[in-house]
Amino acid sequence: MKKTVLSCIQPTGEMHIGNYFGAIKNWVALQDQYDCLYGVVDLHSMTMPYDPKELRANTLRMAIELLACGIDPERSILFVQSMVPEHTELNWVFNCVTSYGELSRMTQFKDKSEQLESSTGKFVSAGLFTYPVLQAADILVYRADFVPVGKDQEQHLELSRNIAVRFNGQFGDCFPEPQPLFTKVPKVMSLADPTKKMSKSLGDKHVVGLFEEEKSLRKKVKRAVTDTGEATGDEMSPGVANLFSLLEACEKHDEHAELMNAYREGALQYGPLKGVVADALVELTQGFIARKAELEKDPGEVERLIARSSERARERAKLTLDQVRKLTGLPVL
Ligand code: TRP
Repeated sequence: MKKTVLSCIQPTGEMHIGNYFGAIKNWVALQDQYDCLYGVVDLHSMTMPYDPKELRANTLRMAIELLACGIDPERSILFVQSMVPEHTELNWVFNCVTSYGELSRMTQFKDKSEQLESSTGKFVSAGLFTYPVLQAADILVYRADFVPVGKDQEQHLELSRNIAVRFNGQFGDCFPEPQPLFTKVPKVMSLADPTKKMSKSLGDKHVVGLFEEEKSLRKKVKRAVTDTGEATGDEMSPGVANLFSLLEACEKHDEHAELMNAYREGALQYGPLKGVVADALVELTQGFIARKAELEKDPGEVERLIARSSERARERAKLTLDQVRKLTGLPVL
Protein backbone atom coordinates (compact mmCIF):
# COMPACT_ATOMS: atom_id res chain seq x y z
CA MET A 1 0.00 0.00 0.00
CA LYS A 2 1.33 3.40 -1.01
CA LYS A 3 1.43 6.09 1.63
CA THR A 4 -0.85 9.07 1.12
CA VAL A 5 0.48 12.55 0.35
CA LEU A 6 -1.69 15.63 0.46
CA SER A 7 -0.95 19.25 -0.24
CA CYS A 8 -2.93 22.30 -1.20
CA ILE A 9 -2.43 25.71 -2.74
CA GLN A 10 -4.53 28.83 -2.63
CA PRO A 11 -5.92 30.10 -5.92
CA THR A 12 -4.01 33.36 -6.05
CA GLY A 13 -2.52 35.09 -9.07
CA GLU A 14 -0.50 33.34 -11.74
CA MET A 15 2.07 30.85 -10.60
CA HIS A 16 5.68 32.04 -10.64
CA ILE A 17 8.98 30.20 -10.79
CA GLY A 18 9.35 30.52 -7.02
CA ASN A 19 6.13 28.54 -6.49
CA TYR A 20 7.20 26.01 -9.09
CA PHE A 21 10.72 25.29 -7.88
CA GLY A 22 9.71 25.67 -4.23
CA ALA A 23 6.68 23.38 -4.26
CA ILE A 24 4.92 22.25 -7.41
CA LYS A 25 7.90 20.56 -9.06
CA ASN A 26 8.13 18.41 -5.97
CA TRP A 27 4.38 17.66 -6.02
CA VAL A 28 4.78 16.36 -9.56
CA ALA A 29 7.73 14.14 -8.59
CA LEU A 30 5.93 12.69 -5.55
CA GLN A 31 3.31 11.16 -7.83
CA ASP A 32 5.79 8.41 -8.75
CA GLN A 33 5.96 7.10 -5.21
CA TYR A 34 2.83 8.06 -3.36
CA ASP A 35 -0.92 8.10 -3.50
CA CYS A 36 -1.29 11.85 -3.97
CA LEU A 37 -4.13 14.27 -3.45
CA TYR A 38 -3.70 17.92 -4.39
CA GLY A 39 -6.21 20.64 -3.70
CA VAL A 40 -6.99 24.17 -4.77
CA VAL A 41 -8.21 25.69 -1.52
CA ASP A 42 -10.73 28.31 -2.54
CA LEU A 43 -12.33 28.43 0.93
CA HIS A 44 -9.02 29.50 2.44
CA SER A 45 -8.86 32.39 -0.01
CA MET A 46 -12.08 33.76 1.47
CA THR A 47 -10.29 34.55 4.73
CA MET A 48 -8.76 37.71 3.27
CA PRO A 49 -10.61 40.42 1.33
CA TYR A 50 -11.26 39.16 -2.22
CA ASP A 51 -13.37 39.60 -5.31
CA PRO A 52 -15.85 36.75 -6.06
CA LYS A 53 -15.36 36.89 -9.84
CA GLU A 54 -11.62 36.77 -9.43
CA LEU A 55 -11.83 33.88 -6.99
CA ARG A 56 -13.80 31.79 -9.46
CA ALA A 57 -11.45 32.60 -12.33
CA ASN A 58 -8.34 32.06 -10.21
CA THR A 59 -9.58 28.67 -9.02
CA LEU A 60 -10.01 27.39 -12.57
CA ARG A 61 -6.73 28.93 -13.63
CA MET A 62 -4.83 27.38 -10.75
CA ALA A 63 -6.26 23.97 -11.65
CA ILE A 64 -5.21 24.49 -15.27
CA GLU A 65 -1.72 25.57 -14.22
CA LEU A 66 -1.28 22.54 -11.96
CA LEU A 67 -2.30 20.26 -14.82
CA ALA A 68 0.09 22.11 -17.15
CA CYS A 69 2.90 21.56 -14.64
CA GLY A 70 2.34 17.82 -14.69
CA ILE A 71 -0.15 16.99 -11.95
CA ASP A 72 -1.64 13.90 -13.53
CA PRO A 73 -5.32 13.22 -12.79
CA GLU A 74 -4.87 9.61 -13.93
CA ARG A 75 -2.50 8.95 -11.06
CA SER A 76 -3.46 11.60 -8.51
CA ILE A 77 -6.54 13.40 -7.34
CA LEU A 78 -6.83 17.09 -8.10
CA PHE A 79 -9.77 18.59 -6.24
CA VAL A 80 -11.26 21.97 -5.50
CA GLN A 81 -11.77 22.30 -1.76
CA SER A 82 -15.31 23.71 -1.87
CA MET A 83 -16.40 20.86 -4.15
CA VAL A 84 -15.71 18.41 -1.31
CA PRO A 85 -18.09 19.63 1.43
CA GLU A 86 -16.72 17.04 3.86
CA HIS A 87 -13.81 19.44 4.44
CA THR A 88 -16.12 22.02 5.99
CA GLU A 89 -18.05 19.41 7.90
CA LEU A 90 -14.91 18.06 9.50
CA ASN A 91 -13.77 21.64 10.05
CA TRP A 92 -16.71 22.17 12.39
CA VAL A 93 -15.98 19.04 14.38
CA PHE A 94 -12.33 20.11 14.64
CA ASN A 95 -13.35 23.61 15.75
CA CYS A 96 -14.72 21.89 18.81
CA VAL A 97 -11.46 20.12 19.67
CA THR A 98 -9.25 23.16 19.07
CA SER A 99 -8.63 25.71 21.77
CA TYR A 100 -8.88 29.45 21.41
CA GLY A 101 -5.43 29.68 22.99
CA GLU A 102 -3.63 27.53 20.46
CA LEU A 103 -5.16 29.41 17.55
CA SER A 104 -4.09 32.70 19.14
CA ARG A 105 -0.49 31.51 19.02
CA MET A 106 -0.44 30.95 15.25
CA THR A 107 2.14 33.33 13.80
CA GLN A 108 0.48 33.49 10.38
CA PHE A 109 -2.71 34.71 12.01
CA LYS A 110 -0.81 37.33 13.96
CA ASP A 111 0.98 38.55 10.82
CA LYS A 112 -2.08 38.63 8.61
CA SER A 113 -4.39 40.19 11.17
CA GLU A 114 -1.83 42.91 11.84
CA GLN A 115 -1.51 43.48 8.12
CA LEU A 116 -5.28 43.88 7.86
CA GLU A 117 -5.54 46.11 10.89
CA SER A 118 -2.97 48.47 9.45
CA SER A 119 -4.68 48.65 6.05
CA THR A 120 -8.16 47.64 4.91
CA GLY A 121 -10.71 48.85 7.41
CA LYS A 122 -9.46 46.63 10.22
CA PHE A 123 -11.88 43.79 9.55
CA VAL A 124 -10.32 40.56 10.72
CA SER A 125 -12.65 37.64 10.07
CA ALA A 126 -13.19 34.64 12.33
CA GLY A 127 -12.35 32.63 9.20
CA LEU A 128 -8.81 34.00 9.27
CA PHE A 129 -8.56 32.97 12.91
CA THR A 130 -9.76 29.41 12.28
CA TYR A 131 -7.90 29.04 8.98
CA PRO A 132 -5.54 26.38 10.38
CA VAL A 133 -8.47 24.26 11.60
CA LEU A 134 -9.78 24.03 8.04
CA GLN A 135 -6.26 23.17 6.96
CA ALA A 136 -6.22 20.31 9.49
CA ALA A 137 -9.51 19.09 8.02
CA ASP A 138 -8.01 19.20 4.49
CA ILE A 139 -5.25 16.90 5.63
CA LEU A 140 -7.06 14.57 8.01
CA VAL A 141 -10.21 14.05 5.98
CA TYR A 142 -7.99 11.86 3.73
CA ARG A 143 -5.95 10.51 6.63
CA ALA A 144 -2.83 11.76 4.87
CA ASP A 145 0.53 10.41 6.03
CA PHE A 146 2.72 13.12 4.55
CA VAL A 147 2.25 16.78 3.75
CA PRO A 148 4.84 18.50 1.55
CA VAL A 149 4.96 22.06 2.84
CA GLY A 150 7.38 24.89 3.31
CA LYS A 151 8.80 25.82 6.71
CA ASP A 152 6.20 28.59 6.98
CA GLN A 153 3.50 25.93 7.36
CA GLU A 154 5.27 23.95 10.07
CA GLN A 155 3.20 25.44 12.87
CA HIS A 156 -0.07 24.71 11.08
CA LEU A 157 0.99 21.12 10.55
CA GLU A 158 1.87 20.75 14.19
CA LEU A 159 -1.62 21.97 15.03
CA SER A 160 -3.03 19.31 12.68
CA ARG A 161 -1.16 16.66 14.63
CA ASN A 162 -2.43 18.04 17.94
CA ILE A 163 -5.98 17.99 16.63
CA ALA A 164 -5.57 14.39 15.45
CA VAL A 165 -4.18 13.29 18.81
CA ARG A 166 -6.82 15.15 20.80
CA PHE A 167 -9.66 13.80 18.66
CA ASN A 168 -8.34 10.23 18.95
CA GLY A 169 -7.98 10.64 22.71
CA GLN A 170 -11.51 11.98 23.21
CA PHE A 171 -13.44 9.85 20.75
CA GLY A 172 -11.34 6.87 19.74
CA ASP A 173 -8.71 6.09 17.16
CA CYS A 174 -9.50 7.66 13.83
CA PHE A 175 -6.63 9.77 12.49
CA PRO A 176 -2.92 9.22 11.84
CA GLU A 177 -0.50 11.99 12.78
CA PRO A 178 0.45 13.65 9.50
CA GLN A 179 4.16 14.30 9.03
CA PRO A 180 5.66 17.18 7.11
CA LEU A 181 7.71 16.32 4.06
CA PHE A 182 10.48 18.85 3.78
CA THR A 183 12.25 18.27 0.50
CA LYS A 184 15.37 20.25 -0.25
CA VAL A 185 14.14 22.92 -2.62
CA PRO A 186 15.86 26.07 -3.82
CA LYS A 187 14.66 29.31 -2.33
CA VAL A 188 14.09 31.56 -5.30
CA MET A 189 14.73 35.21 -4.51
CA SER A 190 13.29 38.32 -6.12
CA LEU A 191 15.17 39.43 -9.23
CA ALA A 192 14.83 43.09 -8.36
CA ASP A 193 15.65 42.70 -4.67
CA PRO A 194 17.53 39.43 -4.18
CA THR A 195 17.53 39.78 -0.41
CA LYS A 196 13.78 39.01 -0.42
CA LYS A 197 11.99 35.81 -1.30
CA MET A 198 10.30 35.96 -4.71
CA SER A 199 6.70 36.88 -4.06
CA LYS A 200 3.89 38.37 -6.07
CA SER A 201 3.20 40.86 -3.30
CA LEU A 202 6.55 42.58 -3.95
CA GLY A 203 5.41 43.68 -7.40
CA ASP A 204 5.66 42.52 -10.99
CA LYS A 205 9.31 43.25 -11.62
CA HIS A 206 10.28 40.99 -8.74
CA VAL A 207 8.74 37.82 -10.12
CA VAL A 208 9.10 35.68 -13.22
CA GLY A 209 5.83 33.99 -14.08
CA LEU A 210 5.97 30.31 -14.91
CA PHE A 211 3.83 31.07 -17.95
CA GLU A 212 5.43 34.39 -18.80
CA GLU A 213 6.12 35.06 -22.44
CA GLU A 214 9.69 34.86 -23.61
CA LYS A 215 10.24 38.53 -24.31
CA SER A 216 9.33 39.82 -20.88
CA LEU A 217 11.01 36.86 -19.19
CA ARG A 218 14.30 37.74 -20.90
CA LYS A 219 13.87 41.39 -20.05
CA LYS A 220 13.38 40.63 -16.36
CA VAL A 221 16.41 38.37 -16.18
CA LYS A 222 18.51 40.94 -18.02
CA ARG A 223 17.52 43.56 -15.45
CA ALA A 224 18.13 41.28 -12.47
CA VAL A 225 20.11 43.01 -9.74
CA THR A 226 23.59 41.48 -9.44
CA ASP A 227 26.05 43.60 -7.53
CA THR A 228 24.46 46.06 -5.21
CA GLY A 229 27.51 48.29 -5.10
CA GLU A 230 28.85 47.80 -1.61
CA ALA A 231 31.92 45.62 -1.54
CA THR A 232 31.05 42.43 0.30
CA GLY A 233 34.49 40.88 0.48
CA ASP A 234 34.77 37.36 -0.86
CA GLU A 235 31.15 36.50 -0.59
CA MET A 236 29.02 36.10 -3.67
CA SER A 237 26.37 38.80 -3.85
CA PRO A 238 22.79 37.61 -3.27
CA GLY A 239 21.74 38.51 -6.82
CA VAL A 240 24.51 36.47 -8.43
CA ALA A 241 23.90 33.60 -6.03
CA ASN A 242 20.23 33.67 -7.01
CA LEU A 243 21.10 33.40 -10.71
CA PHE A 244 23.36 30.44 -10.01
CA SER A 245 20.71 28.77 -7.93
CA LEU A 246 18.18 29.21 -10.75
CA LEU A 247 20.59 27.47 -13.14
CA GLU A 248 20.85 24.61 -10.71
CA ALA A 249 17.07 24.51 -10.33
CA CYS A 250 16.79 24.22 -14.13
CA GLU A 251 19.21 21.29 -13.92
CA LYS A 252 21.83 22.99 -16.06
CA HIS A 253 24.66 21.39 -14.13
CA ASP A 254 27.37 21.68 -16.80
CA GLU A 255 26.67 25.35 -17.43
CA HIS A 256 26.55 25.90 -13.69
CA ALA A 257 29.97 24.30 -13.18
CA GLU A 258 31.54 26.19 -16.06
CA LEU A 259 30.26 29.59 -14.98
CA MET A 260 31.15 28.87 -11.37
CA ASN A 261 34.74 28.25 -12.47
CA ALA A 262 34.74 31.55 -14.28
CA TYR A 263 33.44 33.20 -11.13
CA ARG A 264 36.19 31.68 -9.01
CA GLU A 265 38.80 32.86 -11.48
CA GLY A 266 37.30 36.33 -11.36
CA ALA A 267 36.44 36.11 -15.04
CA LEU A 268 32.66 35.92 -14.81
CA GLN A 269 30.66 38.44 -16.76
CA TYR A 270 27.11 38.96 -15.65
CA GLY A 271 25.73 39.48 -19.17
CA PRO A 272 26.53 35.95 -20.34
CA LEU A 273 25.44 34.47 -16.98
CA LYS A 274 22.06 36.15 -17.36
CA GLY A 275 21.85 34.93 -20.94
CA VAL A 276 22.34 31.31 -19.88
CA VAL A 277 19.80 31.65 -17.06
CA ALA A 278 17.25 33.21 -19.41
CA ASP A 279 17.80 30.42 -21.98
CA ALA A 280 17.30 27.78 -19.31
CA LEU A 281 14.09 29.40 -18.06
CA VAL A 282 12.73 29.83 -21.57
CA GLU A 283 13.47 26.20 -22.33
CA LEU A 284 11.69 25.14 -19.14
CA THR A 285 8.64 27.36 -19.52
CA GLN A 286 7.93 26.74 -23.23
CA GLY A 287 6.40 23.35 -22.52
CA PHE A 288 4.30 24.75 -19.66
CA ILE A 289 3.04 27.61 -21.80
CA ALA A 290 2.07 25.23 -24.61
CA ARG A 291 0.24 22.85 -22.26
CA LYS A 292 -1.60 25.70 -20.57
CA ALA A 293 -2.72 27.10 -23.93
CA GLU A 294 -3.98 23.64 -24.92
CA LEU A 295 -6.00 23.29 -21.71
CA GLU A 296 -7.39 26.82 -22.01
CA LYS A 297 -8.87 25.95 -25.39
CA ASP A 298 -11.55 23.94 -23.61
CA PRO A 299 -12.11 25.19 -20.07
CA GLY A 300 -15.36 23.19 -19.91
CA GLU A 301 -13.36 20.00 -20.29
CA VAL A 302 -11.06 21.03 -17.44
CA GLU A 303 -14.09 21.82 -15.29
CA ARG A 304 -15.50 18.36 -15.93
CA LEU A 305 -12.16 16.78 -15.14
CA ILE A 306 -11.98 18.67 -11.85
CA ALA A 307 -15.56 17.71 -11.00
CA ARG A 308 -14.80 14.02 -11.59
CA SER A 309 -11.60 14.19 -9.59
CA SER A 310 -13.32 16.06 -6.73
CA GLU A 311 -16.00 13.37 -6.73
CA ARG A 312 -13.30 10.74 -6.21
CA ALA A 313 -11.94 12.84 -3.36
CA ARG A 314 -15.44 12.97 -1.89
CA GLU A 315 -15.82 9.21 -1.89
CA ARG A 316 -12.73 8.94 0.25
CA ALA A 317 -13.65 11.86 2.48
CA LYS A 318 -17.10 10.39 3.14
CA LEU A 319 -15.60 7.24 4.63
CA THR A 320 -13.81 9.38 7.20
CA LEU A 321 -16.91 11.43 7.96
CA ASP A 322 -18.98 8.27 8.52
CA GLN A 323 -16.54 7.19 11.17
CA VAL A 324 -16.35 10.69 12.68
CA ARG A 325 -20.14 10.81 12.98
CA LYS A 326 -20.21 7.44 14.70
CA LEU A 327 -17.50 8.39 17.16
CA THR A 328 -18.76 11.88 18.02
CA GLY A 329 -22.43 11.09 18.66
CA LEU A 330 -23.87 12.58 15.48
CA PRO A 331 -26.52 10.75 13.46
CA VAL A 332 -24.94 8.53 10.83
CA LEU A 333 -26.19 9.49 7.38
N1 TRP B 1 -1.96 27.15 4.23
C1 TRP B 1 -1.31 26.60 3.07
C2 TRP B 1 -0.44 27.70 2.43
O1 TRP B 1 -0.71 28.85 2.61
C3 TRP B 1 -2.31 26.12 2.05
C4 TRP B 1 -3.04 24.93 2.55
C5 TRP B 1 -4.37 24.83 2.88
C6 TRP B 1 -2.49 23.65 2.77
N2 TRP B 1 -4.68 23.60 3.25
C7 TRP B 1 -3.56 22.83 3.22
C8 TRP B 1 -1.20 23.12 2.62
C9 TRP B 1 -3.34 21.49 3.53
C10 TRP B 1 -0.99 21.78 2.94
C11 TRP B 1 -2.06 20.97 3.39
O2 TRP B 1 0.50 27.37 1.74
